[in-house]
Amino acid sequence: MECKPNEIIPKNTDRPVNAFIKTEKELLLLVWGFPFTEPFPLDTCESVYGISGCKLTTNRSLYGIADAVVMHHVDIMYDRRSLPQETRPHDQRWVWFNMEPPRIIRNLHFLDNLFNMTMTFRQDSDIYIPYGRAIALKEPQSFSIPAKTKLAAWAISQWYPGARRNTYYEELKKYLPIDVYGKKHMKLAWDDFYKTISKYKFYLAFENSNYKDYITEKLWSHAFDQWAVPVVLGTTRKNYERFLPGEAFIHVDDFSSPKELASYLLELDKDEERYKRYFYWRSYYQVRRDPGMDHHYCTACRVLQQAPYYQVIPSIQKWFLEDVKV
Ligand SMILES: *[C@@H]1O[C@H](CO)[C@@H](O)[C@H](O)[C@H]1NC(C)=O
Ligand SMILES: *[C@@H]1O[C@H](CO)[C@@H](O)[C@H](O)[C@H]1NC(C)=O
Repeated sequence: MECKPNEIIPKNTDRPVNAFIKTEKELLLLVWGFPFTEPFPLDTCESVYGISGCKLTTNRSLYGIADAVVMHHVDIMYDRRSLPQETRPHDQRWVWFNMEPPRIIRNLHFLDNLFNMTMTFRQDSDIYIPYGRAIALKEPQSFSIPAKTKLAAWAISQWYPGARRNTYYEELKKYLPIDVYGKKHMKLAWDDFYKTISKYKFYLAFENSNYKDYITEKLWSHAFDQWAVPVVLGTTRKNYERFLPGEAFIHVDDFSSPKELASYLLELDKDEERYKRYFYWRSYYQVRRDPGMDHHYCTACRVLQQAPYYQVIPSIQKWFLEDVKV
C-alpha cells in the first residue's frame, strides 16, 4: 500500500473510549519506558524538531489507543513479561529500539513475530538512528583547531572481557604514551570532559564491538566535538567511509601492528602540516552528533506517519545477528 508523507492511517473506530483526547491527525506513540529510566522531554517534536502530528506519552494506561509502542531492548530483554501483556489493538505497531551491539543484548528470540519495525543505529533499520552524522555543506566554512598540548587520550568505562580494544590498547601503550580516563584510571569529571579532551591531538575512539554501522559517541562526540583526531577501532574502514570522508580518521587496520600505528602517530606529532590534513574535511562537512533521546522518538513518529501499513518481522534475531555483512 502506498502512503504519502504525513498521510494519516485511518483510525480503528472500535477502540476503547478513553479520557485521553487526541486529535484525529495526531499519532500517539507510547514510550514503553524511558530508556535506562532516564527521562527526556516528551513535548519537543514540533517545538524543537519541527515534526508535527506526534504525541508522545509514557502513560501505559493509554496502551489501548496508542498507534505505536516503542520498546527499548535493554529494558525489556531480561523478562518476556516486561513486554505489553494486554491484548494488542490490531493496527498498533510495535517498534524495536536498540542502540547496542550483540555483545550487550540478550534474548532477541523474545521478539519473534511481534514487532513491525526496527529502530537502531544500523542504516538498514526501518527507523535509522545514528549516533552522529557528517553533513556535507553547500558552502565551505572556515574553522580553527583548538590549541593542542597533549598527545593521546582514551576514556573507557567498561572493560568487556575479550573485546579487541583491550588487547590492542595493551600493545599500543608500549610504544605510545596514552592518558587513560575512567574507571580504574585517571578521574575525569563529566563537566571537564570536553575541555580536557580538546587538548589532545588524538583520541582513541575504540568501540566495544566490531559490528556493522556501530560507530558511537566515542567518535562523534568524544573525538569530533573536541577536535581530536580519532583513531578508530571497530567496524571496517570501508564501513566508516560510508558515513565519513576517509581522511577524517585514522583506522587501526591501516597498520600492520599497534607498534606501526604508534610510530605513525609520533611522526604526525612532530609534523604540524601532516597532522592538520586530518582537518581539511572540516571545511566541507558539519558534524552533528545525536541530539538526544527525544529526537529519536520524534523521528520514529515521523517515519511511522509515512510507513507502510503491514509488516511483521518474523525474526529480529536473524536480522541483527546474521545479516551483518558490511
Ligand atoms: C494516564 O492516562 C489515564 C487515562 O487517560 C489517566 O486517567 C491517568 O491520569 C494518566 N496518568 C498519568 C500519570 O498521567
Ligand atoms: C504488526 O505485527 C503484528 C504482530 O505480528 C501483526 O499482527 C500486525 O498485523 C502488524 N501490524 C501492522 C500494522 O503491520
